[in-house]
Amino acid sequence: MSTLTDDLRLWAGRSRAQIDALTVAPSLEQIGRVEQIGDGVAIVSGLPETRLDEILAFEGGLRGLAVDLGDSRIGCILLGDAGSVRAGSIVHGTGNVARTPVGEALLGRVIDALGTPLDDGPALEGCAMAPVEQPAPPIIDRALVTRPLATGLLVVDAMIPLGRGQRELIVGDRGTGKTAIAVDAMINQRNTDVICIYAAIGQKASSVAQVIDAVRRHGAPERCIFVVGEADTAPGLQWLTPYAACSMGEYFMAQGRDVLLVLDDLTKHAAVYRQVSLLLRRPPGREAYPGDIFYIHSRLLERAAHLSPEKGGGSLTALPIAETQAGNISAYIPTNLISITDGQIYLDPRLFYEDQKPAVDVGKSVSRVGGKTQAPALKALSESLRLTYAQFLELEVFTRFGTMVDDRTKKTIDHGRRIRAVLAQPQFAPLGLGEQVALLFAVGEGLLDELPLEHVGRFRALLPGWLADRCPTLLKLDDAARALTETQQAELRMALTTLAQEARKTA
Ligand SMILES: Nc1ncnc2c1ncn2[C@@H]1O[C@H](COP(=O)(O)OP(=O)(O)O)[C@@H](O)[C@H]1O
Ligand SMILES: [Mg+2]
Repeated sequence: MSTLTDDLRLWAGRSRAQIDALTVAPSLEQIGRVEQIGDGVAIVSGLPETRLDEILAFEGGLRGLAVDLGDSRIGCILLGDAGSVRAGSIVHGTGNVARTPVGEALLGRVIDALGTPLDDGPALEGCAMAPVEQPAPPIIDRALVTRPLATGLLVVDAMIPLGRGQRELIVGDRGTGKTAIAVDAMINQRNTDVICIYAAIGQKASSVAQVIDAVRRHGAPERCIFVVGEADTAPGLQWLTPYAACSMGEYFMAQGRDVLLVLDDLTKHAAVYRQVSLLLRRPPGREAYPGDIFYIHSRLLERAAHLSPEKGGGSLTALPIAETQAGNISAYIPTNLISITDGQIYLDPRLFYEDQKPAVDVGKSVSRVGGKTQAPALKALSESLRLTYAQFLELEVFTRFGTMVDDRTKKTIDHGRRIRAVLAQPQFAPLGLGEQVALLFAVGEGLLDELPLEHVGRFRALLPGWLADRCPTLLKLDDAARALTETQQAELRMALTTLAQEARKTA
């Protein structure tokens, strides 16, 4: 009800014409109210036109994502701290879905899922905004995975090769070197033009800092983006992190570039989703995860692709990481992810404690599409290696009990131990294709069999310099390199035999 003085105040100082031009009509505004808020979620009433995944704006600038639409209440995941928002506060719909900045300006930066800088760099400018959820490229726009993505880790590149556009799960217990493998793969891209995006979901701030530091020291950080949703940030931000990172990657893929996306890790992502779903009182399913947990991961990982030449030929390779408990890869989330991806790299804690690092269990690991992309020079050498190595592992189990073995078995075992020593590799020391070929050749030809096991490390250390000196052409091998010719083999055999002798002497 307006009083007379109110009306007078409104009209004061206006001309007659202005007053005549005023139109007074009812306007519609939809207002919702917060019913309940806390623990990273809110229940809102009102706003009957809200759509799924719409961003809701709370008083004071807080945003939330509508994920649960009931008859009269909306379940909402908060994208920040609740702050001063209380039950009874006002909420508006925005008609928008969650968006994240994409573009060149992100390269080299550390940001969160909504693009807030977390490093001490300037605010992001000149970025387009893209929805965090986008449909995966349809079949028609996809090409087969044909180009390799080298990780620089011999055990992966030789035995479980990856292709650009592939999705490969890295799975294993806590502290078995999962992050280390992904970081080494990112560091190895310093020699390529692949853009790397590292999405940290629910990780400790100190672990994330270590990853960023390692890439800055050893890799090409100017071609990397770190999208961070640390363990202590709002669950909503952690939940959006992998989707936002994927959108950032898709931007570059659409330009015909190659992207490597590391999702560290999706077990924590699933746990965050379970947490908010339970708080929103959605019905729990197996292991208390909500029923759509498979779908949220498959729609994320389906966005990895190798685009057809008509679409620019770009690629997005996804390396999701999953953590197991006590080596149980048949738990719910790991099995889901194994079935979604094109293969897995399984890390065995037993190998890790035996100091076989990277602790890749070659028997339980597989790459279902990358094999076709492997450089022919490497493929020729690694095929027989896999079989010999598997035989050795089986034999070794028997001899553990101190069984007497004949000479032939002893030889096989000695040879196998050399293979294992060659497959071990320190962190931050990726191997080029030439070095990988030389190492596999040396061990395959039995050139290391006479070398005491503890001197194999010495052999590896001397190798790059030796090759540069004696077989410089080998260091220039590229992904299309054909299998070694007879003359190349002879040359390499000679060089490596003398190197093996050298390693024996100097050690
Ligand atoms: N190839 C390796 N050589 C030496 N140390 C390694 C290697 N891979 C991993 N580590 C070490 O093992 C520890 C656990 O690795 P991390 O990648 O953090 O495990 P996860 O991600 O599985 O929890 C780290 O301290 C890391 O430095
Ligand atoms: Mg880790």
